[in-house]
Amino acid sequence: MENKKNFYITTPIFYPNANPHMGHAYSSLLCDVLARYHRLLGVETYFLTGTDEHTEKVVQAAMERNQAADEYLEVIVARFKNLYAELGISYDQFIRTSDRTIHWPGAIEMWNRLFAAGDIYKAKYEGLYCVGCESFLTEKDLVGGMCPDHSRVPERVTEENYFFRLSKYSDEIRKLILSDTVQIFPAVRKNETLAFIDGGLKDVSFSRPNEKMSWGIPVPGDPGQTMYIWVDALTNYITALGFGRGEENMRFWPGMHIIGKDILRFHTIFWPAMLLSAKIQLPRTILVHGLITSEGKKMSKTLGNVIDPFELLAEYGTDAVRYFLVRHVHPFEDSDITKESFKEAYNANLANGLGNLVARVMKLAEDNLPAPVERPAPKEFPEEYVKAIEAFELNHAMDFIWNNVQKLDERITKEEPFKLIKSKPEAGRVLIAELVVELYQVGRMLNPFMPETSKKIKEAILANKKPETLFPRKD
Ligand code: MSP
Repeated sequence: MENKKNFYITTPIFYPNANPHMGHAYSSLLCDVLARYHRLLGVETYFLTGTDEHTEKVVQAAMERNQAADEYLEVIVARFKNLYAELGISYDQFIRTSDRTIHWPGAIEMWNRLFAAGDIYKAKYEGLYCVGCESFLTEKDLVGGMCPDHSRVPERVTEENYFFRLSKYSDEIRKLILSDTVQIFPAVRKNETLAFIDGGLKDVSFSRPNEKMSWGIPVPGDPGQTMYIWVDALTNYITALGFGRGEENMRFWPGMHIIGKDILRFHTIFWPAMLLSAKIQLPRTILVHGLITSEGKKMSKTLGNVIDPFELLAEYGTDAVRYFLVRHVHPFEDSDITKESFKEAYNANLANGLGNLVARVMKLAEDNLPAPVERPAPKEFPEEYVKAIEAFELNHAMDFIWNNVQKLDERITKEEPFKLIKSKPEAGRVLIAELVVELYQVGRMLNPFMPETSKKIKEAILANKKPETLFPRKD
């Protein structure tokens, strides 16, 4: 997947205008699994996440609560960090775009480079602005004169903006994507990006007048304008590594971005164009996942179909939620989840399946082996497991682990160690020791996906003791 000595992976930076939800949990979890996998292989890894704070929605949310933006943000950022703690997200840095020490110098440096390359110019902008989307819409985007996502009539605005010459980079980006210099996974998203480029790229507004947007980074040399989204948000992926302030970790760049399909173009077109203009290497890989729906619809408070990650975590625990999101949500397509499907999968594959297997094998071992099985030498990971992870088919890697769980169960049923130990104790002990070694390998493969469970299995084996029930059945 990466021909480099190190591995850098990022989540999108999330809008902190409400509590973190299942979608945020999902993106972060995919990153976490890949980060843990690389660490397990001994690859130096850096995992970045954070919040995209210069948005009008933050200002509005703070106002609704009679709070200053800073005050409001402290609370929401703490909730994101809580979610990460509860979900076992092992990030190395949490970047906040309002951070004037960490983020601003690099964003300003990026702007200056684009400007120096002759790619920033001032022009009049006229357009339909939707406050909900925080972006300009075209007539084609509207349904019945309204923004289809926010059911509101956009405002017609005329203003001075700085523009970025996106159009200048069409051909170059096209080539880099076609040749997989920038790899876009899955192929359908690569094709979507190419089709978009072929449709013709227009220059993009990169700033807004201060009086329309004051919460943000002032444009260098023109404090009457504030940077608008792109330089401000996308540049986080390198400001976090020290771009514009010493570059202490820039050796990790280029890295891999994980994003939802809703922010595809920004990452596969705008960001590469900015990097080309600034003469910085392009991202190596962009992995685009689908969106999670519930009961066939986008989760929304009014529909009452919201599945709150905190609730699930409180009820089922870290590893059960990780299990479900990685195995039962498709990594590239949209997936529907419900509380019922969660419970079903939990009972079938965790309470029964894995939990039951660990209890069976370790009870046999505890009762019949005189000492812990010698720490099994770490075997190579099976090829199928490695291949699935390297193709980002994390659900298939999980299927593979569960096939092994099933095979072990079948072996126990067929070879009946509990009987063998009575009739032929020596052969019985050999069989049980083999089962333990197999279980150890299952535990190792689980490490990036379900780190707590992996650790409990290892500890049980090293102590030769049946652990407490890993996943109690839920009714
Ligand atoms: N702040 C921008 C991104 C800037 S990146 C430089 C943003 N933030 S967001 O809070 O709206 O998060 C969007 C991302 O959250 C999606 O790309 C995806 O990674 C994740 N998800 C949000 N809703 C989701 C689902 N329903 N399902 C899965 N993930 C989705 O856009």
